[in-house]
Amino acid sequence: MSSSELKNTFYPIYYFLKKYPKRSAITVLALLFSGLAEVVSFAAMIPLLGLAIFQDTEQRELGLLETGISKIFDIIELDMTMGGILTLIVLMMGLKSFLSYYAMKEVGYICTDVEVDFRKRMVNSLLYADWRYYLNNQTGDFSTAISTQVQAACNVFRATGLVLAGLIQVGLFSTMSLTISIPITIGGILLGLTVMLFLRNFVTLARVSAKTLAKHEGTLLSTLIDCLRGIKSNKAMSMQGRLQKYLEQDIERLAVMRKRIILSSAVLKNFQEPVQVVGIAAALYALTSYWKGGVDELLVLILLFYRSGQRLGNLQIYYQQIVSAFAPFWFVSNIISGAEKEREDLNSGLVASLNGSIIFDKVSFAYDSKYVLNQVDLEIKIGDFITIVGPSGGGKTTLTDMLLRFNEPSAGSITIDGTNINNLSKSSLRGLIGYVPQETVLFYDTIRNNVTFGDPQITDTELKEALRRAGAISFVNQFPDGLNFIVGEHGGRLSGGQKQRLGLARALLHTPKLLLLDEPTSALDKTSENDILNTLKGLRGTVTIIAISHQQTFANASDKKYILENGNLSKLEFSKN
Ligand SMILES: Nc1ncnc2c1ncn2[C@@H]1O[C@H](COP(=O)(O)OP(=O)(O)OP(=O)(O)O)[C@@H](O)[C@H]1O
Ligand SMILES: [Mg+2]
Repeated sequence: MSSSELKNTFYPIYYFLKKYPKRSAITVLALLFSGLAEVVSFAAMIPLLGLAIFQDTEQRELGLLETGISKIFDIIELDMTMGGILTLIVLMMGLKSFLSYYAMKEVGYICTDVEVDFRKRMVNSLLYADWRYYLNNQTGDFSTAISTQVQAACNVFRATGLVLAGLIQVGLFSTMSLTISIPITIGGILLGLTVMLFLRNFVTLARVSAKTLAKHEGTLLSTLIDCLRGIKSNKAMSMQGRLQKYLEQDIERLAVMRKRIILSSAVLKNFQEPVQVVGIAAALYALTSYWKGGVDELLVLILLFYRSGQRLGNLQIYYQQIVSAFAPFWFVSNIISGAEKEREDLNSGLVASLNGSIIFDKVSFAYDSKYVLNQVDLEIKIGDFITIVGPSGGGKTTLTDMLLRFNEPSAGSITIDGTNINNLSKSSLRGLIGYVPQETVLFYDTIRNNVTFGDPQITDTELKEALRRAGAISFVNQFPDGLNFIVGEHGGRLSGGQKQRLGLARALLHTPKLLLLDEPTSALDKTSENDILNTLKGLRGTVTIIAISHQQTFANASDKKYILENGNLSKLEFSKN
């Protein structure tokens, strides 16, 4: 095994143990004692059988185990009678069941706690990643990671618990059977290992398939999400047939991998038994033909053989489950670490203020090698209301992205109140800004939660005021459920203009000092647009407004108008009417 393989294998197990070391240790102890209790109850069967067969223990020589059991009876000051032994067996089996119940429950609970922890870390790392991170990753990967893959990853621990329990038991059984017969025990262990070796390839098959499965699942979910997001235009152009084929390909590929894993576990589950039975039959034949010891010991030996065979078989099944869980474990871990690596530093830097002006000084910006902004000069005084127009792809959204520090200038600088925005903390800078994007994305939730983001601190009075100023209150009031109206998937139960107004309400609720509006009225009729313009006019002087808009009325309402073309910004003179 190479060092990276070693890490791939042992790190996931270590990860769980490290998370809850105390609980893991107690669980292992519970497993150990549960195994011991079972062994004691098996050992007690020898004197029990001895009593049943020979009626009197005094008639024969006591074996090692029997001596041990009679010691236990001495300690608890009980006679080694049939009733006493039976009571011991029942007590030990009861203890075994209780301890193994406790251990399995604990393993399950630890898994669930780790699942919760994984999911919280994932949400946290995803929410705080740099926005460029999302451009290069599939949404489907996130969806599958947080739902099925997290759960599958936790099988590492569940199955490790089971393997450990099995190993402890096989170990104890073997020790016990060694006290009865050394050659038979060694023969039994060799037999078990041969069966495992024989079926090893199926374990590898499961591991490899699990890795591909996670990736395919992510792709399927991404495609499905995108298809549904664009369902209207897809249907409008009768694209269902093509999309169906596209999705079905992903579904089929998924099924191939799933079937490989199923094949592997079915082979392990079902071929182990006949192989074991043949082995055990041969061993039994040898035992009965050449066995020199007592019938009682022989019976217990057979019992031990049978139980060890079962355990060994399960061991391989659980081992297969562990190795199949490595892929999901790494899938989830890589998403978290990938997003954490791209974590935005929100807090370092000076606290932003806006009391003077915003100045773009020869700001240039390029995506890869393509220049989108070219030596842009712009001064915005506090309380100004400016409009930027320009052809599509001209760089308008990019310019507002620079103010939000989503992108940094490749040359030149942007200062606010004389401080370069690169030196301002992103959280305080963005705290000043109300942003209305080109496309408002809504949750499948109520209007209230969509505007307040579920913040219970915001009162309905504050919310209604923001809705009123955004020109949204009249349509909200028309819904029978009012603020509790569910807007549908991506706000599909609202018109484009209504969505825009909710987007504006979100921004206004933020009580911003700077409003960035990216075509806020592109989907509105004249009346609604006028409502919003009146709101903006009312804000003039107290709030600085940068609006991107092609609406002439918008430009007319603003103090200054600029055009951004091929990355060059120039001021447009216009006469106000
Ligand atoms: N993440 C990105 N990576 C590479 N290029 C990008 C990226 N985002 C935008 N661009 C490119 O930058 C240019 C300017 O885009 P931008 O979104 O700023 O234009 P815009 O003026 O807002 O256009 P519109 O009016 O259509 O919204 C476009 O040519 C676009 O293809
Ligand atoms: Mg744009």
